[in-house]
Amino acid sequence: MIPLKSKKDLDMLKESGKILALVMHKVEKIVRPGITTSDIDRLSEKLILKSQAVAAFKGYKGYPATACVSVNDEVVHGIPGPRVIEEGDIVSIDLGVNYKGYFSDMAVTLPAGKIDTAKKKLIEVTKKSLELAIKKAYAGNKLSDISQSIQSYVEAYGFQVVRQFVGHGIGTALHEEPEVPNFFKNGVSPVLKSGMVLAIEPMINMGDWECMLLNNGWTAVTRDGRPSAHFEHTVAVTDNGPLILTR
Ligand code: MF3
Ligand code: CO
Repeated sequence: MIPLKSKKDLDMLKESGKILALVMHKVEKIVRPGITTSDIDRLSEKLILKSQAVAAFKGYKGYPATACVSVNDEVVHGIPGPRVIEEGDIVSIDLGVNYKGYFSDMAVTLPAGKIDTAKKKLIEVTKKSLELAIKKAYAGNKLSDISQSIQSYVEAYGFQVVRQFVGHGIGTALHEEPEVPNFFKNGVSPVLKSGMVLAIEPMINMGDWECMLLNNGWTAVTRDGRPSAHFEHTVAVTDNGPLILTR
């Protein structure tokens, strides 16, 4: 069952999303060569708590930090630590907020200093694939319209869609039904309805889509060692079309 949100739920989710977007935009500003991935985590935590909200990832299935910070070949769930960000790195920051029981989820990938043109293209295409996918989040469309939009767009650039991780419904829990794959999946796909809220999150590899898990039990990296990018918004399907809650 895919939960449909009431007007009150949506109002609360808007608040949650607004807090998260503001936190993310402040955190984005500190990303540069020389900072550590824990610097990103510490600032994220401080700003979330200051907003009367709680970090949604910390403690989730034992996840040890506020932010996921995934650098270069790290796809998702990079655990913040002493790693120093270097010129030319690309840095994905994924944050989740729980505001009074209402969850929002957002990710961006940023360049550290000057990056090469291939990485620039990967970021640009991944970001654009999310924007195009959000435009498919209309009542009456199928969920697979979102998936197919992402896959066909990124593959046209020679990039590949990660299969091991997918987007998800979100609301009064971080992960709700349905799964939101970024690739075509055989089988029936749910019809989107007004009141559904989705975390749409393309994870796109420059090379092969296959990933492996590091020994820390969390961090996924690309098998071929090439870079990966990740963008995510929490989006409501409404009578007036898609509404980005983490804008
Ligand atoms: N945005 C990711 C997701 O929806 C981040 C989850 S990190 C975790 O799965 F620690 F909470 F698992
Ligand atoms: Co998510």
